[in-house]
Amino acid sequence: SVDLSVTVGPIRLQNPVMVASGTFGYGREFADFVPLEKLGAVIVKGISLTPRPGNPPPRIVETTAGLINSIGLENVGVEVFLKEKLPYLQKRSVPVIVNIFGERVEEYRELAEILDNQEGIIALEVNISCPNVSAGGLHFGADPESAAKVIETVKENTSLPVMVKLSPQVTSIALIARAVEEAGADIISCINTIPAMAVDIYTRKPRLGNVVGGLSGPAIKPIALRCVFEVVRAVKIPVVGVGGIATPEDALEFLLVGARAVQVGSVNFTNPRASLEIIEGIARFLSENNFATIEEYIGTLQLSE
Ligand code: DOR
Repeated sequence: SVDLSVTVGPIRLQNPVMVASGTFGYGREFADFVPLEKLGAVIVKGISLTPRPGNPPPRIVETTAGLINSIGLENVGVEVFLKEKLPYLQKRSVPVIVNIFGERVEEYRELAEILDNQEGIIALEVNISCPNVSAGGLHFGADPESAAKVIETVKENTSLPVMVKLSPQVTSIALIARAVEEAGADIISCINTIPAMAVDIYTRKPRLGNVVGGLSGPAIKPIALRCVFEVVRAVKIPVVGVGGIATPEDALEFLLVGARAVQVGSVNFTNPRASLEIIEGIARFLSENNFATIEEYIGTLQLSE
C-alpha cells in the first residue's frame, strides 16, 4: 500500500488530509461518521480568549456557487475548550490543530501562552483572515506589518509550530506570505473564505443577518489553487491548501501544485464522510498510477519552460 505520510515543516502527519476549521466542530460532532484517528489532523473551530456569541442570524446561506457564512467566530472560549472539548480529542488520539482568533494582538499572545504544552495539540493555526468580524481577522491579515506583528507575538509565546491562515482578499497574497514567513511562521494555510453576499429579490432583504459573509466551496477552488501556486513560489515554508476541496481529485490538484497537505471544509456539511473518502481516493489514485509514496507526487506540476 502507498505511504501517505507527509512532513509539513515541523509536523509529521500519517496522511495529508486535515479537516478545516469551523467545518468539523470539535471533532465529536463527526465521530459517528468518521473514525477520527484516520485523519491527518483535526483543526477545531476558531477559539478566542473569551466566549463569543457570533453574528445575528441567518448566518449561513446556500447559493448555487457555494456556501456563504457570517458566523462571526462564535465559540466557547479557550477555557471551556480546554475543559470540555479537548479531552475528547485527546482520548481519541487524533492530532489537534487549534485555530486561534483575537481582536487584538494581546489576545493572540494570551491564547498562545494558554495553549502551549497541552497534550494532543500539534500546532496552532493563526486566523488572520476571517472576513466576518469588525475587529481582528482580515484587519490583521490584509496588511503585511500587522500580520507580521501577530505572528511574531504568537511565536514568542509558544513552543508549538505556527501555521498562518491567509485570505485571498489582498493585493498580493505572496507579499503577506513573505511577511509572515519573515516573522517566524512555520506553515502557511490558504485560503480562508472570500467576502461575498446574497439577496432575496422578493423580500428585498440581504440573506445574511450580517449582510456580507465569506464564500466557500466549489466556486473558490480555482482561486485557492492559484493562491497555493503563488505562495509555494514566494516562500520556503510549507503550504497547506484549502478551498473547495470535495473529492480526491480536488485534493490531488493542490498536492500537484505543491501543497504538502490539504484541508477539507464545506463538503463536511453535505457529506460528513468526505475527508475519509478523500484519504482513500488519494491512496487509490497513487497506487493505480504507480507511486509508492505521496512525496513522489507532491509539487510535480509540469510547467513548460
Ligand atoms: O468564513 C469564515 N467564517 N472564516 C473564518 O475565519 C471564521 C468564520 C466565522 O466564524 O465567521
